[in-house]
Amino acid sequence: MDRIRIVGGNELNGRIPISGAKNAALPLMIASLLTDDTLTLENVPHLADVEQLIRILGNHGVDYSVNGRRERQSEGYSRTIHFTARHIVDTTAPYELVSKMRASFWVIGPLLARMGVARVSLPGGCAIGTRPVDLFIDGLQALSAEIDIDSGYVVAKAPKGGLVGNRYVFPKVSVGATHVLLMAASLARGETVLVNAAREPEVVNLADCLNAMGAKISGAGTSTITIEGVDALSGARHAVIPDRIETGTYAMAVAMTGGDVILENARPDLLQNALRVLEQTGAEIIPVNSGIRVRRNGAGISPVDVSTEPFPGFPTDLQAQFMGLMTMANGRSTITETIFENRFMHVQELARLGARITLSGQTAHVEGVPVLKGAPVMATDLRASVSLVIAGLAAEGETTVSRVYHLDRGFERLEEKLSGCGATIERISG
Ligand code: UD1
Repeated sequence: MDRIRIVGGNELNGRIPISGAKNAALPLMIASLLTDDTLTLENVPHLADVEQLIRILGNHGVDYSVNGRRERQSEGYSRTIHFTARHIVDTTAPYELVSKMRASFWVIGPLLARMGVARVSLPGGCAIGTRPVDLFIDGLQALSAEIDIDSGYVVAKAPKGGLVGNRYVFPKVSVGATHVLLMAASLARGETVLVNAAREPEVVNLADCLNAMGAKISGAGTSTITIEGVDALSGARHAVIPDRIETGTYAMAVAMTGGDVILENARPDLLQNALRVLEQTGAEIIPVNSGIRVRRNGAGISPVDVSTEPFPGFPTDLQAQFMGLMTMANGRSTITETIFENRFMHVQELARLGARITLSGQTAHVEGVPVLKGAPVMATDLRASVSLVIAGLAAEGETTVSRVYHLDRGFERLEEKLSGCGATIERISG
């Protein structure tokens, strides 16, 4: 298994291109199931999760080509991919495929809306909590679907004539359930109103794409979304937004090591709260034409308390990285995780580098230390693993991160992007 070796202590200086967002690309790819026409997506990142979803969609009958060729473009950064679901050949998403990636459960929405039936395995995904699917089931039932759980599968059937629009109030904000109901309601009869919907930029990106395909959606980006169902959707061409989590991650790396980096293509409006928090730690955040410039020269890192929240609050997907930064702050900070109940697996690994963190329930108390020291550490999930990389960049000496397949799920060309800015970081194969 590959490992990443880092020799810490270098400042980061230069430019890092920000890739298309994994969490936006996945639902957009799934939306290709809604039409027999071609959906062309630009700026799709080259990541293990994307490749996995291509396999899953292929199982349902989705053909794809990358810039006209039916092959992976190994040398490329984010790519343009054409997806065509001319015929849906299978409405079952099997356990072997869905268990590898939770987001693949989302095929339930378009399969049900287009084919009137879907049989989708209960998901797996990152081990960051129980992550149930009750909201998906409730929401689809509100659109008149009949749902049974049978041998580990969710079996969903639409009434004769298709799903029926309705008003649905989410009892809890869920990004995935919002994506699924948006897709399903686009082909339902009549109007659907989603209340307490997720406001994440990835939801807006999906709604914009669905509208380009002929859907009638308004209000995406607010907590009430209205969808007027249509009979059919067509193909479209649509761009994946830049990855706000990758942006925030590299911004935190610079805030920790010091230096001056331009995050190319990054969009400040996608980060909001997280950028304000970074400024409070002492980093300078400067929006520039080509993206966001992040700078920290000399000054220490100020401690800041954060609590994760749905968008526009501080993202749970940046919690681990922020904790990495706070381990070297001049004082105490508290970090509270409100979205997932088991998202502190990085704490023990950060402690191996010398971090001082105590946990009480969903809150971590971090006592900043003046230096971290490199050590072998283990990646436990996608975002946790990158927090170890960031801490390793700032630590004295050598850090090796094992189980890097977690990183490959969500960070395109991580070593290359960081070494291009002066970091000593390499992948060791085998
Ligand atoms: C998405 C992101 C993930 C991010 C998360 C929160 C993708 C591929 N993943 O995950 O990176 O961390 O949003 O911003 O985009 N919940 C239920 N019942 C359900 C569904 C969810 O209780 O049926 C709970 C979850 O357990 C969690 C909370 O709702 O506590 C939010 O989860 P959700 O927004 O659905 O996360 P994902 O869409 O899976």
